[in-house]
Amino acid sequence: MNEVVRTIGIYKDYVSEIQKGIFKKEKKIVHALRGIDLEIYEGEIFGLLGPNGAGKTTLIKILTTLLLPDKGKAIVLGHDVVKESVEVRKKIGVMLMGERSLYWKLTGRENLEYFGALYRIPPRELKERINEIADFIGLNDFIDRLVETYSSGQKMLLAFAKALINDAPLLFLDEPTVTMDPRNAAMIRRKVKELKKDQGKTILLTTHLMHEAEQLCDRVAIIDKGRILAIGTPDELKSTLKGMSSIEIDILGNRVDELISFIKSIDGVTSVAANYVRVDHRDAIRIRVLCDSPREILPEIINQIVNEKYDLLYINPKEPTLEDVFLHYTGRLLSEDTREGL
Ligand SMILES: Nc1ncnc2c1ncn2[C@@H]1O[C@H](COP(=O)(O)OP(=O)(O)OP(=O)(O)O)[C@@H](O)[C@H]1O
Ligand SMILES: [Mg+2]
Repeated sequence: MNEVVRTIGIYKDYVSEIQKGIFKKEKKIVHALRGIDLEIYEGEIFGLLGPNGAGKTTLIKILTTLLLPDKGKAIVLGHDVVKESVEVRKKIGVMLMGERSLYWKLTGRENLEYFGALYRIPPRELKERINEIADFIGLNDFIDRLVETYSSGQKMLLAFAKALINDAPLLFLDEPTVTMDPRNAAMIRRKVKELKKDQGKTILLTTHLMHEAEQLCDRVAIIDKGRILAIGTPDELKSTLKGMSSIEIDILGNRVDELISFIKSIDGVTSVAANYVRVDHRDAIRIRVLCDSPREILPEIINQIVNEKYDLLYINPKEPTLEDVFLHYTGRLLSEDTREGL
């Protein structure tokens, strides 16, 4: 297997100044990346899965030469990202910052012409390439309108098109489906798969959606607080939880601390976490429980929920997902909402 990306011990800190009172400023250091080691192979879709602030965008910026690492080394398509940044940039396609990376006062086509010209693609070839991409992604209805008239989903589609303009063998997509409606998000996922299957492209994408990582990625690195916690195919990652089950519970209520403490105290429960979700247009609390034997634990939990007079919306034991792998490693939940179409 050909390696197209390798990182060795990448570290990156940000220093930000925080205003303390009127005259005083305090420096705060954020350790965004704390020793990232990974390899990505030719022809795979590789996912960086992690919650907000995990360091996903920082890593993509370093790999695409937009940011220098403090320490460590990254090789992309045989070139060092620091010493040979020009060569790297020629060979990669990048979707970063979505709609903010576009010129809103130009049409979609003009944007693609502009970015294509930066790669010195000859005009006639560029024209054809833009037509092909427009057909491939379905931009034809709006490509000749000013970008400022686009919906946010249409802007994201154009940002995706921009990443394809130089026909690069390696694509970096930073949260390509974020802010998209479910239909367009599903379409982008399909296109990412086609780029791999029909065009042999290698794709590194970031996401905080576990179902997206699970559906799309050949391999996933779970990243949290600047570190990679686990890396492997979705099945390999889930097999680290062999023999365990996961119970998802949605309830209506305000305080759940006591309920969570109770669930944690049950024998056989390994991890519990909760977050707020919208269920049928209502604010609900979703609790996730990782345990050994759901059959014994389920009645205890239901009893407690009924006794404490919570409104139980949904309770479902199931096979562990990547969300549970994250829960297992961190004791926290990754996603706000993993059920599509809600
Ligand atoms: N320019 C900056 N100055 C200071 N801190 C920063 C800067 N950019 C990022 N950070 C911090 O570095 C950490 C990693 O941020 P990063 O944007 O890489 O995370 P992420 O995984 O992409 O998150 P998200 O899912 O929200 O996009 C966060 O704590 C973030 O607040
Ligand atoms: Mg990000």
